[in-house]
Amino acid sequence: MRFSKVLILGAILLSMSISTVSAQGDPLQFPVDSFTEATTTVTTANGQVEVVYHLYSHIPYVANPVDAAYQSLDVKVPVSINGEAVDATNAPILFVINVGGYMSVNNAQGGMGVGAPVGGITGQPPAGGNGTPPAGTGRARGNAPSGVNTSDLALAAGYVVVVPGVRGRDNQATDGAYYGKAPAAIVDLKAAVRYIRHNDAIMPGNAEWIVSRGTSAGGALSTLLGASGNSTEYDAYFEALGAADANDNIFASGDYCPITDLDHSDMAYEWEFGTMARNGMQVDQVVSQLLANAFPEYLASLDLEGIDGFGTLTAENYGAYLVQTYLIPSANTYLLGLTDEARTTYLAANSWITWDGSAATFTFADFVAHVGRSKGLPAFDNFELTSAENILFGNATTNARHFTNFSLQQTSGDAAAAIDTELQTAVNLMNPMYFVAQGTTDAAQYWWIRQGSSDTDTSLAILANLATSLENQGKDVNALLYWDAGHGADEDPEAFIAWIGQITGYSK
Ligand code: DHB
Repeated sequence: MRFSKVLILGAILLSMSISTVSAQGDPLQFPVDSFTEATTTVTTANGQVEVVYHLYSHIPYVANPVDAAYQSLDVKVPVSINGEAVDATNAPILFVINVGGYMSVNNAQGGMGVGAPVGGITGQPPAGGNGTPPAGTGRARGNAPSGVNTSDLALAAGYVVVVPGVRGRDNQATDGAYYGKAPAAIVDLKAAVRYIRHNDAIMPGNAEWIVSRGTSAGGALSTLLGASGNSTEYDAYFEALGAADANDNIFASGDYCPITDLDHSDMAYEWEFGTMARNGMQVDQVVSQLLANAFPEYLASLDLEGIDGFGTLTAENYGAYLVQTYLIPSANTYLLGLTDEARTTYLAANSWITWDGSAATFTFADFVAHVGRSKGLPAFDNFELTSAENILFGNATTNARHFTNFSLQQTSGDAAAAIDTELQTAVNLMNPMYFVAQGTTDAAQYWWIRQGSSDTDTSLAILANLATSLENQGKDVNALLYWDAGHGADEDPEAFIAWIGQITGYSK
């Protein structure tokens, strides 16, 4: 009797769940017909472009979201450009990562907003006193996000634009539990990519041409998205969220001043800026040198070959390599673009640069003195646990943690202290270099890497390590610095849009 009741109840429950599924269908199906129409006027180098587009708002991209306000995305599909109909069925997809400071991006509050700032600089600086650059380091130009909206430029080129919400280090439930600590942000972004691919047959845009774009923390996540494609190391997270069972590799990665390789950025920072004064004072030279001294071994472990036959990169020749490969070309572009009078004035004010009439020369030491140091010591895993990164690497119950053995040992006084394996896993899952070193993921083939030469939010070595690792693996890397520009600069957004056209062969 009791047995058959259980059976009947079971049968009823089973039929209920079957009917629920069939009534709802695929919970991750793109709602092709649920859009509003909008118009935007985009200023381009070739004049004003009027774009009519379909806006799909706030679509959850996982079946079991922790918080659908964040784990949802918006899509813009151009349907007419300057009055001419366009068909974006097979267009590249610009995947816009609006994360700044490793903070969350709320999709419910119009996270995509028409004309929302693209790529970081969201007005949410990293916590703590470490992220504030000092004034007066001799920069000719400061932070210079161009104000041009890359999303709008993409629409004007006929591309589809996807803007996902993302969990971040600030997310906290009513019971106090944190739910956006590492690696939540990258899990969400990869789940959003899976959603796009899952819907490729019905959603406008070509899921094999996803191009990510982000700045700073967003640039780091864009880099990581490019490097970690189809890694199985996030599978447990996808399962828990009900992410689509699809590939999450992307075609190309656009990375502006990526604040990345977080477990090695303190040593790189002291290697570059260790002896520089900050607010008129040197940081603790003993601690600084302990960190700086760890950099050569790390660099050697990467086993990097400089481009153009430079040979193996070492801590001894790296300064010269950075000057030759990134800094001089950047300075030359800048100086050649000036009028004779402006160039003369600039060179008079920057006597550390020698100009032979067509090209600059200078030493790495003089360049570093020119830009100066902006962050404290250590720059990332700071002893007070107040950096954006300390807070990124918290967990459900702890807001901020040390994420390097160095800072853990320094603060605990235990020379043998080591971070938990659970935390080391999260640190790895946040680091594109971890995946590049494996060489086993389906990393993006195309890379667009940009940074202001006066950006001192992280060492230039972090960018060069990334670019060189990718180049050494045969990736197509387009990397350059904007001379004297600060953190978050984007001085060639239209070139990025044109580059997407070149690497995909797509034109509207
Ligand atoms: C950002 C800047 C930082 O200096 C940092 O450490 C982390 C994030 C940012 O602007 O996103």
